[in-house]
Amino acid sequence: MTTPPMPEFPADFRWGVATSAYQIEGAATADGRGPSIWDTFAHTPGRIADGSTGDEACDHYHRYAEDVALLAGLGVSAYRFSIAWPRVQPAGAGPANPAGLDFYDRLVDTLLDAAVDPVATLFHWDLPQALEDAGGWLHRDTAARFAEYADLVAARLDDRVKLWITLNEPFIHMSLGHGMGVHAPGRMLLFDAFPVAHHQLLGHGLAVAALRARGTTPVAIANNYSPVRVSGETEADRAAGAAYDALHNRLFTDPLLGLGYPEELDLDAALVRDGDLDVIAAPLDVLGVNYYNPTGIRAAEEDSPLPFEIVPLAGYPRTAFDWPVAPDGLRDLLLGLRDAYGEALPPIQITESGCAYHDGPDGQGRVDDPERIAYLDGHIRAVREAMDAGVAVTGYFVWSLLDNWEWAEGFTKRFGLVHVDYPTQRRTPKSSYAWFRDRVIRR
Ligand code: FCB
Repeated sequence: MTTPPMPEFPADFRWGVATSAYQIEGAATADGRGPSIWDTFAHTPGRIADGSTGDEACDHYHRYAEDVALLAGLGVSAYRFSIAWPRVQPAGAGPANPAGLDFYDRLVDTLLDAAVDPVATLFHWDLPQALEDAGGWLHRDTAARFAEYADLVAARLDDRVKLWITLNEPFIHMSLGHGMGVHAPGRMLLFDAFPVAHHQLLGHGLAVAALRARGTTPVAIANNYSPVRVSGETEADRAAGAAYDALHNRLFTDPLLGLGYPEELDLDAALVRDGDLDVIAAPLDVLGVNYYNPTGIRAAEEDSPLPFEIVPLAGYPRTAFDWPVAPDGLRDLLLGLRDAYGEALPPIQITESGCAYHDGPDGQGRVDDPERIAYLDGHIRAVREAMDAGVAVTGYFVWSLLDNWEWAEGFTKRFGLVHVDYPTQRRTPKSSYAWFRDRVIRR
């Protein structure tokens, strides 16, 4: 697909791609790995759209060298991956399992040999099952366990990792995993899931302290954001929009940037102990922004358990996930963060941006994905517009390098720049891979 030339980006802008452990690694019991909540959830009948699990996924655990070669061929300067806590601490506590850390040691060295910066996420939703059995993120102790785990990983890798990301999308882990029950661990607590927010944030803050004590590597968190589009004209519609914005966009960012919890959300005061907010507000080097789409909101019906109703947004093309393709949402989000947090806002890196389509090989074995190219083209231009308006953005990671195991959707959603034929594990770069390499990175 031909797109007009990309505008210029600074020479040191970080172009990368992202993945996560449970979605690609497979090797679920290799080298002493313990079970995580996602193993348990995926093996529970009825939870995953196609009945699949991440037992094998993309077999990246055994094929990482081939995957790093794909990264090198793409020309990215950074690769965001996640470390599986249950490989490092199979039961969620105690000394590190050296064989588990060995895998990440090999991966990091292979990346560095290929001149790709390792960017490591410490928690991408795969909590050791043993910690879940003890109460999981509903339980305050899990925050302390997370900091101990962060320290074990840093002891091994801090000399080579170029950016630490503590948590991935704590909002999605709270809401889909503990509020609505559609992700692991499958709890349906609605607003009683708020302890999961506070304990993840506390774990983040304690982990930041552990990482700072170990080294000088910059530290970030990766939040999911979705700008709100209010649908409807009434005061109640606007109030519903503000309530959703507080929940999705501000619940995690306000306390991280020193503003405490949004008052609208009415968090149980007993949850927040003296000093917690200071721990959570430890300075960050980078704010990771994961963006997929805006959310349409209007006032809820009177008997609804929620103070808002999510409505489909008309007028946008849609991905295979039925998510609206709205690059303007990314620009608005970045400008909104700058306006809301001003000087308190650290430089931003887009830690995930991407789309799922039903991609497959044609008769010649080529995988053409013009919609993905159009999606990325629009979103990268939106980042440039926000930068032109004064927002400090220093990196952009495409989700994802490979087609992979998409949580409750199993293998039914393909997000990769590289197609994966799961029965053979054959990797085929899609046309978006060449486009990202030639039209964006190596211009
Ligand atoms: C994000 C997740 C990532 C992937 C994409 C599509 O919410 O962080 O693991 O599932 O969505």
